[in-house]
Amino acid sequence: MCGIVGYIGSRDATPFLLEGLRALEYRGYDSAGLFVSGSGAQKRAGKVSVLEESIPEGFQGNAGIAHTRWATHGAPTENNAHPHTDDTETVWLVHNGIIENYREIREMFETEGIVFRSETDTETLAQLIGRKYRDTPILEQAVADALKEVRGAYGIAVMAINEPEKIVVARHGSPLLIGIGDDGYYVASDATPLLTHTRNVIYLDDGELAVLTTDSYKVTSLTHALLNKEVQNIDWDVESVQKKGYEHFMLKEIMEVPEVIENSLRGRIDLEAMSIHLGGLRDVEERLKNIERIIITGCGSAYYAGLTGELLIEELVGIPVETEIASELRYRRFTADPEKTILVAVSQSGETADTLEAVREARKHGMLALGIVNAVGSSIARETDAGVYNHAGPEIGVASTKAFVSQLTVFVLLAIYLKQLRDGTGTHNEVIRELTRLPDYARRILSASENISEIAAAHAGMRDALFVGRKFQYPIAYEGALKLKEVSYVHAEAYGAGEMKHGPLALIDSEFPTIALMPLDSVYEKTLSNVEEIRARSGKVIVITTEGSEPAWTTECITIPQTHEALLPILTTLPLQLFAYYAALQRGLPIDMPRNLAKSVTVE
Ligand code: G6P
Repeated sequence: MCGIVGYIGSRDATPFLLEGLRALEYRGYDSAGLFVSGSGAQKRAGKVSVLEESIPEGFQGNAGIAHTRWATHGAPTENNAHPHTDDTETVWLVHNGIIENYREIREMFETEGIVFRSETDTETLAQLIGRKYRDTPILEQAVADALKEVRGAYGIAVMAINEPEKIVVARHGSPLLIGIGDDGYYVASDATPLLTHTRNVIYLDDGELAVLTTDSYKVTSLTHALLNKEVQNIDWDVESVQKKGYEHFMLKEIMEVPEVIENSLRGRIDLEAMSIHLGGLRDVEERLKNIERIIITGCGSAYYAGLTGELLIEELVGIPVETEIASELRYRRFTADPEKTILVAVSQSGETADTLEAVREARKHGMLALGIVNAVGSSIARETDAGVYNHAGPEIGVASTKAFVSQLTVFVLLAIYLKQLRDGTGTHNEVIRELTRLPDYARRILSASENISEIAAAHAGMRDALFVGRKFQYPIAYEGALKLKEVSYVHAEAYGAGEMKHGPLALIDSEFPTIALMPLDSVYEKTLSNVEEIRARSGKVIVITTEGSEPAWTTECITIPQTHEALLPILTTLPLQLFAYYAALQRGLPIDMPRNLAKSVTVE
């Protein structure tokens, strides 16, 4: 949520700052701005391209900071865009996160007669740093002093006009990393903008501050104790954050699914021993053998992956599982026995504030916390006791697609692995064999995307849509509805197909299409009867089923290859993602950056 970039070194900062903002725009895109030493600040409401057009000739300098915003406090206007400054315009600040006690600080300044230029919480922090800087004109000292007085979450980058050759960055709760390049130092709130410049990065932890100059960097605590931080190498390739000829990242990322499944499975299946290896869980294996209960948490698509994981683990292992959205779980009383219960946190970005907080709460309660995380080195990856990386590569489209599929894949691996820890190998050989065939099954579905595109185009004018499924397909129905809402802005609902007659059937008429998830599984007949009830009320039904199981009456049907029931959710997801994509395409919407949304929600 929101994006920060910065650069200090031997070349002009402005081109990198703009390029970095474009790379980060998927995180927030309602306004943008930058501050460059020697040239000053420039900001605009709207997209990064609007800012770019406003940059005057000669706007350059060898250090700068920039920000693309997703509004939290205050509308997306030019005044509320970052960077923010103090009343003397000495200190310039970009900020991700939320300053919770900003009202008190703002009132303190206002009683002194200081007039604020924006409605943001960030400006209060800029004022506070400015005030400290007036007393002690050493930027890192002023920043540390100010941060001791704020509550909330932040990732910040700060500059002062009196010290043009210095950037100070600090983190508490909002990700920030430093890239070490040949021609200077880079700052970013995620690795995406750095990939074309350097692979060597330092992830700041909470409570840490770094001082960057043109030829040096140091990381310290807020109390100025020098820290020796490890420089890590990012192995994502640059191509993976580019569109590779696709019109949208969303389509590109859906089309990458077969390789994503391969990557999630790579090195984890031993076909000879018919066993699953999850290296990231080795250290906690003993504890996992004795668990009696699992709580899964996540937000958005990650939550629906969790709901599917719940069914997978219950079905394949027999351990009771409950799944709760992280924004609720974090405030619930933990009643589970911490010795016998584990938390599994699911997050593509590894930075979602609610999920991270749920992890912290569970660990406070003594529970072992595992992560299913895509972004290596992210906060959730680091704060969980152990975990499994998705290896889906960077996901840029705001609506999660390939990462969701990889989460489902990892849940299948996790379920078989847990079963193996309890009862040895051999119990789910068929699932293991089918897992290795999944990439090919996915390729088959994607190669028939034309049919899905035509069906979506025929319904692009829909006002509402309903998704139904049962058992494993029930959470996938929710994910299908979420996808459609996110990118096409169509009001979409999901129901367990068996629940239709308890209310939602009243909505059905010939204008209200239903997408029925009914592959040949253990509840196929039941779902089919529920779908018949919809048809009897003149409802139009788009069927997603396995090859050979198409009902005779169907006119709009998408088929998927037959596989083990536990793996069908991975396959039925693909037509739903494509359906949402093509519906949004027909409607002419900004698919990769839907209105009001952000990729990574790092505020509560
Ligand atoms: C945002 C994104 C969703 C995502 C959710 C959870 O709402 O728009 O696509 O599913 O956050 O994100 P996470 O990074 O924790 O998986």
